[in-house]
Amino acid sequence: MVEIDLKRVDEMIERYKGEEGVLIQLLLDIQSEFNWISKEAITQISERMQIPKSQIYRIASFYEAMSLEPVGRHIIQVCLGTACQVRGAPKILDRIEGDLKIKGGETTPDMRFTLKRVNCLGCCAMGPVIVVDGIYHGKITPAMVEGILETYE
Ligand code: FES
Repeated sequence: MVEIDLKRVDEMIERYKGEEGVLIQLLLDIQSEFNWISKEAITQISERMQIPKSQIYRIASFYEAMSLEPVGRHIIQVCLGTACQVRGAPKILDRIEGDLKIKGGETTPDMRFTLKRVNCLGCCAMGPVIVVDGIYHGKITPAMVEGILETYE
């Protein structure tokens, strides 16, 4: 797990000192540098910026781009929407879960991958579809999974 360096969080807070409405940007900065936002970081922001923790949690849980749990360096989304289901998505998910030895929603112990199950990625004709770090891989088969994942360090 990537520990969040609270000194670094302080520097980030300092950068926005005196500016209004910077909380979302600050949280995005922390997310982008550490890949998640810890409760210690939230406490620090709350104390330094005099913002109630509840408000920070509300924002951090609202935005899809922010995570309150540590996530892997690469995010795999497996589409389990109806069109992908009929075209074999469950087998793709099984293969990925088997290869990485994690279940949907989990992260590999080496923090390499986080696996997410999603509903319809809006490109049903390409199904079954997985998206890795925003790159779409369509019409995939279980046999293709290993080759795709191998390219992500
Ligand atoms: S159901 Fe998978 S992309 Fe639409």
